[in-house]
Amino acid sequence: MFASDPSAVGANRTIERTQGSEHTVLRDPLLRAIGNTPLLPLDRIVARHGGGFRLFGKAEFLNPTGSVKDRAALFIVEEAIEAGELRNGRTLVDASSGNTAVAYAMLGARLGFPVRLCVPRNAHPERLRRMRALGAEIVLTDPMEGSDGAQREALRISRAQPEKYYYPDQYNSPANPGAHYAGTGPEIWHQTNGRLTHFVAGVGTGGTISGVARYLKEQQPTIRVVGVEPTGPMHGIEGLKHLPSALRPSTYQERWVDATMRIETEVAIEAQGELAREEGISVGRSAGAAVAASLALGAASPEAFIVTILPDAADPMAQETDR
Ligand SMILES: Cc1ncc(COP(=O)(O)O)c(C=O)c1O
Repeated sequence: MFASDPSAVGANRTIERTQGSEHTVLRDPLLRAIGNTPLLPLDRIVARHGGGFRLFGKAEFLNPTGSVKDRAALFIVEEAIEAGELRNGRTLVDASSGNTAVAYAMLGARLGFPVRLCVPRNAHPERLRRMRALGAEIVLTDPMEGSDGAQREALRISRAQPEKYYYPDQYNSPANPGAHYAGTGPEIWHQTNGRLTHFVAGVGTGGTISGVARYLKEQQPTIRVVGVEPTGPMHGIEGLKHLPSALRPSTYQERWVDATMRIETEVAIEAQGELAREEGISVGRSAGAAVAASLALGAASPEAFIVTILPDAADPMAQETDR
């Protein structure tokens, strides 16, 4: 992208778009690198666990900020821009425990709108540094209230000054599952030539599982969709929610989900370690949880062709404590 290019996004702070067939596409090479991630065969791990079934992980850690949340954040921001919600220096405010916050911060820096993020105080300091480096303002919230407390604070801020703040609310925005219905779902369908029998994904906002599941079931209703959650409220698996004890996001559309598997944190960490050692894939704990659930499923269904999501890259600071 060249600053002299009048269509350059961010360079001259004008937002130009081309109309895509499915959705408006921002004409920015960095933002166009969001999505279309590879599907990785996890053959060595499968062999170690008895073989028979097939398991593939969607490499969402290869998105520009290193997580699946680039997809939802881009859709949310695109929708806001189209609706004129981010004009005249209006600030985007939202809650996130980490990855969405980084994605919003990147988009704000890239497209030239201010970003204010409500983040639980126990978020990793490196993550917070990264958000600040991308120019976002951080509001730290009570860690005991988790992402629910951060959501309440974002709502409070936006209600106090509605003209100054736009609160898209990633936990209730249809653009969040919409990103996965338009992108992740079709990608998985085409990458597997429609041969998958199971789709497994961790549940945070539920946007990924709901959007992908809806698309896949529209193509082939027999595909079984399994959600992965932690076993309890104090779990330490970043990005996932223990739904029985949390605010229920409307982005989680349960009608598309056939079953829920609850994974112990230790089991998720063990699978995270296996992904690194056996496959050379450095990912976060929620990927470990999704793979652990997939392995349990595969052990019970030897004919299964399972696709799961590897939502983010390993946090380099957390690695020492994860082993
Ligand atoms: C690391 C990680 N894993 C899984 C998820 C769950 O994705 P979703 O919010 O689409 O349910 C998230 C969401 O923030 C995440 O950050």
